[in-house]
Amino acid sequence: MALVNTTEMFKKAYEGGYAIGAFNVNNMEIVQGIVAAADHLKSPVILQVSKGARAYAGHNYLMKLVEAATAETDVPIAIHLDHGPDFETCKSCIDGGFTSVMIDGSSLPYEENIAVTRKVVEYAHERGVTVEGELGTLAGVEDDVVVEAGNESYTKPEQVEDFASRTGVDSLAIAIGTSHGAYKFKPGQNPQLRFDILEEVSKRLPGFPIVLHGASSVMPEYVEKINAHGGKMPDAIGIPEPMLRQAAEMAVCKINVDSDLRLALTATIREQFDLYPDHFDPRQYLKPARQAIQEVVEHKMLNVFGCAGKA
Ligand code: G3H
Ligand code: 13P
Ligand code: ZN
Repeated sequence: MALVNTTEMFKKAYEGGYAIGAFNVNNMEIVQGIVAAADHLKSPVILQVSKGARAYAGHNYLMKLVEAATAETDVPIAIHLDHGPDFETCKSCIDGGFTSVMIDGSSLPYEENIAVTRKVVEYAHERGVTVEGELGTLAGVEDDVVVEAGNESYTKPEQVEDFASRTGVDSLAIAIGTSHGAYKFKPGQNPQLRFDILEEVSKRLPGFPIVLHGASSVMPEYVEKINAHGGKMPDAIGIPEPMLRQAAEMAVCKINVDSDLRLALTATIREQFDLYPDHFDPRQYLKPARQAIQEVVEHKMLNVFGCAGKA
């Protein structure tokens, strides 16, 4: 199936009370693992590319990998720019074949966020590309921006109607207590999300797709496996799966996951190196790593996001 934008996916997800998984891609094995899961479970999927991923693999390589994936399956796939930092990056992705972009003006003053988001929307919509904007800032690391815990700010519900109507965005990322990276909550902390803010936002924007970033659960089995095979990751707690399920049943139509894929990939490669110290053919350890990515994505689609069978 040809690449699609997010309009249809989000409409069905909103009405059906589920969310689409948006998974970050950086190389062939990650693309293949995610798409194999989507194909197996007949789920729509969003493959997202950060500025760092474009710098690492190159726009053309990632674009061609995703195009190759569409030839292997009938499920709808969107290719999305994650955390677009400025108009030029969004334009370059739109011109280069992306079907969806995020313009992340969340760290700008409000009026500047509106201005840059509006500019991206005008350019994107003329070309059939959907746009995600953001209000509120998450803690954690995204690309080269670090927001220390304590400096994050929740989305202000009283801004969302004004922002959505003046920018024309197709979806809105909000900050309700999720954060980027593998260290979201410390052991002993009780993870909480501000469902009251999500509720208030969706009352003010009925039928409008909301996006959750920083939604990895930091799956303990992979952290344990990394540490069992020579790694040194501090204990960490991610977003509990029941909370993500609840968000997916509400207005959240897109849930972003990167860290859980990184953990699964790293855990599997470390285990392979321990089990088979004589292996040196990359295919020997990348094949199980790709399989682990598929397992994580299938688990999320089937047991957490509810998008399995919705293609
Ligand atoms: O939110 C950020 C994503 O996890 C992408 O991470 O910028 O290191 O590629 P990255
Ligand atoms: P995680 O770090 O929780 O996987 O979040 C990824 C993300 O939000 C990408 O935009
Ligand atoms: Zn993010």
